[in-house]
Amino acid sequence: MVGNNTNPGDDRRIVEGVVGGPSDHIPVMLNEVLSTLQPLPNQTIVDGTFGAGGYSRAILEKGANVLAIDRDENAQAAGKALSLEFGKRFQFFHGEFEQMDLVCKLAGFDCADGVVLDVGVSSMQIDDAQRGFSFQKDGPLDMRMGQSGLSASDLVNKAEGKDLTRIIGILGEERHASRVSRAIVAQRDIKPITRTLELANLVEKTLGRKFSDRIHPATRTFQALRIFINRELEQLANGLFAAERILLNAGGRLVIVTFHSLEDRIVKQFFADRCGNKGGSRHLPQIKENEPSFSQPGSSAIKATIEEVESNPRARSAKLRWAIRTDAPSRAGDMKLFGRQVSLSLSGRM
Ligand SMILES: C[S@@+](CC[C@H](N)C(=O)[O-])C[C@H]1O[C@@H](n2cnc3c(N)ncnc32)[C@H](O)[C@@H]1O
Repeated sequence: MVGNNTNPGDDRRIVEGVVGGPSDHIPVMLNEVLSTLQPLPNQTIVDGTFGAGGYSRAILEKGANVLAIDRDENAQAAGKALSLEFGKRFQFFHGEFEQMDLVCKLAGFDCADGVVLDVGVSSMQIDDAQRGFSFQKDGPLDMRMGQSGLSASDLVNKAEGKDLTRIIGILGEERHASRVSRAIVAQRDIKPITRTLELANLVEKTLGRKFSDRIHPATRTFQALRIFINRELEQLANGLFAAERILLNAGGRLVIVTFHSLEDRIVKQFFADRCGNKGGSRHLPQIKENEPSFSQPGSSAIKATIEEVESNPRARSAKLRWAIRTDAPSRAGDMKLFGRQVSLSLSGRM
């Protein structure tokens, strides 16, 4: 990664029409994020998923400093707008939030007072057909948030059928994963699948679509490919471990907003482990291995209000979990804490 790519002296014209100005992206659960994160003047907050900068702006307006990270180069324009407005109190880094320790170091901080992650794709990414996330708009089958590495087209055209079945079954929670992957393999033998609508139509033809279906039949397949291509679950798990390391002061707050059950499960498992409330058998003596590194004022997830869901349907599936750092040392990040879905890899060569 990663560099501080914001130059406060850049031309103001570049930033018109993005954050700071009008933007289509409405930040999800912003009130709840602010009331749990509680940013205070002069504190340093890491916004690991900058997007259009909705959270960053609100945190800056509370007087805290922001280190913002986004893996999408396009987010830099919105970063420039905030730099112009807030000067040195705002720094933008192009990179991945699993590297937030490094970002803090580059910015000259030993630690942060708060970390917020709003994981997944932004509406700007979904709405831009050329990014290839949408099964409703025709575009190249890409899906890379960071614009580099393996694309969704590479994956569907080159991965072994059994790997596609695992990916679509586990990351898409698609019951008919083997039917979908067989159809993909048969189709690509005739002609490579390079467009979003080619794949969406193929899945629809394979699985059929009833009038009563609430979601498009390709929803799960697209979700699976996107999560795999962007290593989203691994990033989230590593991001939680990194946040534990950089929130060094007791009282530091970690706030995570997720959009589907695979992500929420990881956050829930992490907090259960770090807060020392993992359960266990009532027939065995309790073994206290580690001091809890977080405490959780409310262990259940917070959901968006009905009013917010009505005005922004994207908020419907959002869940917010948060916790407060104790003064216990951070622990080694061990992926075994989570299920096998977190680090899925390809068995064959591509
Ligand atoms: C849902 S949007 C965030 C919106 C933001 N909270 C706002 O108010 O505008 C998610 C953003 O996080 C970025 N992102 C997702 N995973 C990331 C990762 N592992 N590291 C850095 N950025 C990531 C995406 O590129 C996207 O821009």
